[in-house]
Amino acid sequence: MALMTTDAPALPDWDKLSFSLTQTDTIFECFGDLDSDPQWDEGAFKPFENVSISPAATIFSYGLSIFEGLKAERTEDGKILLFRVDRNAWRFGHSATQLRMLNFPEKRFITAVTELVRRNERFIPPAGKGTLYVRPTLFADEPQLGLRTARRYRVLMYASPVGAYFSSADAGVRLRVLEQGRVAPGGTGSAKAAGNYAGSLNRREQMHVEGFDDVLFLDARDAQFATETTGSNVFAKLKNGILVTPKLNDQILPGITRESVIQLAKEQLGLTVEERPLRIEEILGDVSELFCTGTAWTVRPVRELQYRDEITKFDAPDVAVQLLQSLRAIQSGEAPDRFEWIREVAL
Ligand code: COI
Repeated sequence: MALMTTDAPALPDWDKLSFSLTQTDTIFECFGDLDSDPQWDEGAFKPFENVSISPAATIFSYGLSIFEGLKAERTEDGKILLFRVDRNAWRFGHSATQLRMLNFPEKRFITAVTELVRRNERFIPPAGKGTLYVRPTLFADEPQLGLRTARRYRVLMYASPVGAYFSSADAGVRLRVLEQGRVAPGGTGSAKAAGNYAGSLNRREQMHVEGFDDVLFLDARDAQFATETTGSNVFAKLKNGILVTPKLNDQILPGITRESVIQLAKEQLGLTVEERPLRIEEILGDVSELFCTGTAWTVRPVRELQYRDEITKFDAPDVAVQLLQSLRAIQSGEAPDRFEWIREVAL
């Protein structure tokens, strides 16, 4: 794929979408400076081309970068729906604050995402074929050598049509428990910081080689409690019917699918949901269903979990399937939006 070209990019084969990058028409770029007034310039929509950045930009050495991920979807009757963009706007600010970066105003985030989706409308897959994944990023582009917080920042947003994150569409994933944290205690775990993801890759790749789809990190303090996979929150349905998910703390990302699933489980499925520490032993002994949630992962059942030498197999997903169906019905416009999660993009 040539990312340097200004020729109109080709549409993908809608029947072969995966979670991979397709070049689209338009990106959004905006420059921020703590010392100017206003701090952010008005921003610009541009063709999807390489951008210019100093080789000494802080992001390259010190990784000062956060991002978001959200989806727009085409309905059967041709409307374009955005799912919970206000929550991504909030989390963008939360992440920026965690890394002492310049916040991008929530209203501007929502306006820019909405306009980006509109301008890339031809890349939104037909109903039922996939979604347009929007990736807003915010990073320090100030050139500097020493380790310091930065005063100059950039927001870049792009979008790509995507299909499922895992190629085996409906099968549950195989996870390997890692007796280590995903992030440092007291660190950036509640932020969607680029470095959190970079730090998880080495071990995940090792486990891929061993045939696992992903890893389940334990907490970084005691290595006793489940936290997250490399890209999702986790939920366990206990044999007594209660749904448990790790409580938000310094090692858990406030997932938007996570909070949606909690609400659906309580209000639509009538389940009791507990947000609390989830011991690995409890998962091995008391859990009938284990599943993961995330924007890219959606709701993904875990079929098998390996902890040390012990392999635990879980029941065929039932609650996970119901939650996925409820969520997807709202996202795709098939079910009424009773929680006010949807915004329609005017074309
Ligand atoms: C998402 O689910 O949107 C994420 O950003 C996770 C990433 C690993 C794809």
